[in-house]
Amino acid sequence: MVIESLAGMDHNFNLSGRDRAFALRLLRETTVWQVRLDRALASFCSKPLGDLDVIVLAALRAGAAQLIILHTPSHAAVSATVSALSGHRASGLVNAVLRKLAKEGEPDTVKAPLNEIWSHPPSLTARWVSRFGREKTEKLMEWNNSVPDIGSCFPGMTENLEKGLYIDDYRILERTGMNPLHSTTEKIYIQDEAAAVVAKAAAELAKGGSVLEIGAAPGGKTHHLQATADYVVSVDSSLSRMRRWLENMARLEWCNSIPVVADGRMLPFKDSFDLVFIDAPCTNTGVYRRRCDARWKWSDEYLENSVALQRELLRSAAELVVPGGILIYSTCSLEEEENRSQVEWFEKNADYFHLQSFSEPHELVRDGMICIFPPDHGIDGLFAAAWRRDQ
Ligand SMILES: C[S@@+](CC[C@H](N)C(=O)[O-])C[C@H]1O[C@@H](n2cnc3c(N)ncnc32)[C@H](O)[C@@H]1O
Repeated sequence: MVIESLAGMDHNFNLSGRDRAFALRLLRETTVWQVRLDRALASFCSKPLGDLDVIVLAALRAGAAQLIILHTPSHAAVSATVSALSGHRASGLVNAVLRKLAKEGEPDTVKAPLNEIWSHPPSLTARWVSRFGREKTEKLMEWNNSVPDIGSCFPGMTENLEKGLYIDDYRILERTGMNPLHSTTEKIYIQDEAAAVVAKAAAELAKGGSVLEIGAAPGGKTHHLQATADYVVSVDSSLSRMRRWLENMARLEWCNSIPVVADGRMLPFKDSFDLVFIDAPCTNTGVYRRRCDARWKWSDEYLENSVALQRELLRSAAELVVPGGILIYSTCSLEEEENRSQVEWFEKNADYFHLQSFSEPHELVRDGMICIFPPDHGIDGLFAAAWRRDQ
């Protein structure tokens, strides 16, 4: 099933318990480490990897991930992978390549380019090295490849759970697992502490007022906003993601939130909300640890398109805030173009808004904005800025 999922054919794991956890972990590692796995496979495969059937390449990658990353005993990794191909005509090739890899090991990575060692897009690696330097970039990539912990804000009985780093009621549920079952059995919303930091900061400003949330699905921020606001109108342009929002609404019993499927650039609510929160679509470069396939979408064009969409959302959202109200803009990107440059652009184009500084958690606030860099702060990379509209 992992192989079919990697080949884009099937995402339905009909497994339970340990098998499911292992399958999810293997799927994750194979996706994250793709470039490094391909580098190793290419040196043992007689054909160029690009010429192989998708299912054969997926099997090779899944086998290599078990050998190189998960350190599964080699006989088990090779035989399980070959038998999963169940008689495919290329199963002999997969068997031979994986056996060679198991015997000779991964080729030395010491002289490999950074992007191959840490399996990231080359252009993004070069961008980060020129901005952060090599050492910080490596730390960031190491963070991106690490298995994320699972946690949640957790009011109630939590004495036996490890605390988060910044929020009093944030608790770690699992350090190593990929098991999402907690979120369906308990009335909690599983999210990174960084998302909870931004959501709580917004919820604090939303107290007792009317809130419009743009980019609302699947509801990680709604969960906090609805707890303090008078009511929340939650808008997202994706129908499928809003269906997940609805499931969360029913499960978590949000009773003052109104779902709307619409384009946030075309909303008919001029001067209507005490607080407008844009959780902007972005390149996701701050959350690669959790969104393990997102790095493969990176391109300069993707960044440019995100920046353009974010500006349109900012421009139209500014019209929806009541005089004296608040606008919050947030991304899960580390790129200046999507963060500080957007703040500068907005302030130039909407001089009737003035920055409203966040104060807490003070370790995460720079120049009044929440700026989280994973290797420095130990949580996902997020950005948020808030402004108050003049009366
Ligand atoms: C960062 S995600 C939102 C995460 C969500 N706030 C949460 O905490 O669970 C950004 C969202 O923006 C939505 N989006 C993209 N373009 C949009 C648009 N033009 N109008 C409204 N929503 C949009 C995407 O469908 C996506 O759900």
